[in-house]
Amino acid sequence: MTFSVRDEIGRIRFRGADETAESGTSPAGAPVHCELGPGSGLSHADIEQIVALAGLAGRLPDPARQSAMAFVEHSGRKYKVLAYASAAAAHQRFTLLGRTGDLFAACLGRVENCLVHEFVEGSGEVGNSRLGDDIGSFLADLAGFAVEPMHEPDFEAWSRTLAEKGIFLRRTIGTLRRYIAASLVKPVRWDLEYLDAVPKNFVYAGKRRLICVDSKHLYPGPQGVSLAKLYSNIGEYCRREDYMAIRNVYQNRVRDNRLDDPAYFEFLLLFYSLFFLVANAGQFSWKMNVENGMNRIRRRTVLGIIGTSRSIRLLEGLWWSAAFDWFWVSKLPRRALRYALRRAGGGKGIKKR
Ligand SMILES: Nc1ncnc2c1ncn2[C@@H]1O[C@H](COP(=O)(O)OP(=O)(O)O)[C@@H](O)[C@H]1O
Ligand SMILES: [Mg+2]
Repeated sequence: MTFSVRDEIGRIRFRGADETAESGTSPAGAPVHCELGPGSGLSHADIEQIVALAGLAGRLPDPARQSAMAFVEHSGRKYKVLAYASAAAAHQRFTLLGRTGDLFAACLGRVENCLVHEFVEGSGEVGNSRLGDDIGSFLADLAGFAVEPMHEPDFEAWSRTLAEKGIFLRRTIGTLRRYIAASLVKPVRWDLEYLDAVPKNFVYAGKRRLICVDSKHLYPGPQGVSLAKLYSNIGEYCRREDYMAIRNVYQNRVRDNRLDDPAYFEFLLLFYSLFFLVANAGQFSWKMNVENGMNRIRRRTVLGIIGTSRSIRLLEGLWWSAAFDWFWVSKLPRRALRYALRRAGGGKGIKKR
């Protein structure tokens, strides 16, 4: 069974999984209209009604967030409905979640491009002294799901996307290719990773069991990449002691001492930044990519890690800064017009789209 979590990001295969037709797909391979999770306790009519109440079916999610979400109540119970970009993307995520047991809020079913999740009644995470350990355990549990590794040709496809979409100069792409080839010399273990392991994405059900309530950040990746976001935000929204608690539990459970190797850890940080740069490059216009503040940070991270020369770093910075300034200036006439209309209309101008 092949999982394509995000087409432009690559395909996930679970090791040893069979290649027969996926349940939930028609003989032609297209996802069927509706499918129910095992033991959901809901009927097709229920699940369709829940999705109808959310009003998201068929509506494409906001591209900046990749999915749209609504909470609904049906027959006295609360549910979360999440819309994906297509029925195929939702079906793949549904199948993937079916494999991860109770680590995530149960996925009860799918209608077209929408997934229905249970709403986990429980306490918020704040102030729970076990939280760091429990997140570490959660990440280690995910690491138990091995997936097919990414090889050099997969990274080559990423490099091509980055070059074609104007995310880096060709010279930089050459350096990136060499860095990746050197990083893959030592074997890397690939498994399921959770790329946004911050406290707000978890809930204690009945105060005892930690459940992840935001499954959209689940992806395949090199072992340990789940720590990249937390590490990059130490001092901002992740305290050093929390990071260390998560990392220690994780490392003890997965028994991987490669995390102590600075070169491997840099590869993880690189992968994390590249992952989003490639995903955004494939999905958004160049203008939107340049205007995305996180993309600018990710570019700097990549340039720093792969060891580009100072002059190339300068050129990369100048190129994007000039484009950013130009896009900003080119918006001025419209902004001025809007302001003038607002003043003339006593405060009611054209509504920003
Ligand atoms: N299934 C759920 N059960 C309980 N609470 C949830 C659930 N899904 C989301 N939440 C709450 O809503 C918040 C936002 O939902 P989330 O899916 O993380 O969206 P986003 O991160 O895109 O804003 C979460 O941080 C959590 O507090
Ligand atoms: Mg979230």
